[in-house]
Amino acid sequence: MKTIMYTLPFALMLTAGSAFSAELNGAKLYLDKTCASCHGAEGNKPIADNYPKLGGQSAKYILERLKAYKAGEIKGGQAAIMTPMASMLNEEEMEAVANYLAEVTCTPAG
Ligand code: HEC
Repeated sequence: MKTIMYTLPFALMLTAGSAFSAELNGAKLYLDKTCASCHGAEGNKPIADNYPKLGGQSAKYILERLKAYKAGEIKGGQAAIMTPMASMLNEEEMEAVANYLAEVTCTPAG
């Protein structure tokens, strides 16, 4: 039991590092996982006014939101749409997409 308790945080620390995300292409994932069909090109052109813009958002925030959707922790609003989307991503993929979205420039709504 002790072993599990000590190894788990260590394993999480390793995943949080850049070892995996460097191999994944966040921009490609964003397209392949159909995120762009709702959030638009580079997360800057959501298809509806009540769909959030993601481009230029902090990677940490996006990652936390994706994890929370996947865990079913976000309810109400339009969370039911996003929960299955986030569930398609594993943690490394979430990180790669989050890093990609944080890197693109946020363009003001027009
Ligand atoms: C079918 C349309 C649709 C698709 C496809 C979609 N999203 Fe979303 N997304 C939404 C909606 C609607 C919300 C707002 C949900 C709410 O009210 O909680 C949202 C919210 C989010 C948020 C939270 C933003 C914030 O400011 O809190 C993130 C991050 C996000 N989406 C990332 C993604 C990623 C990454 C993908 C691809 C894996 C994706 N979305 C695919 C519709 C979509």
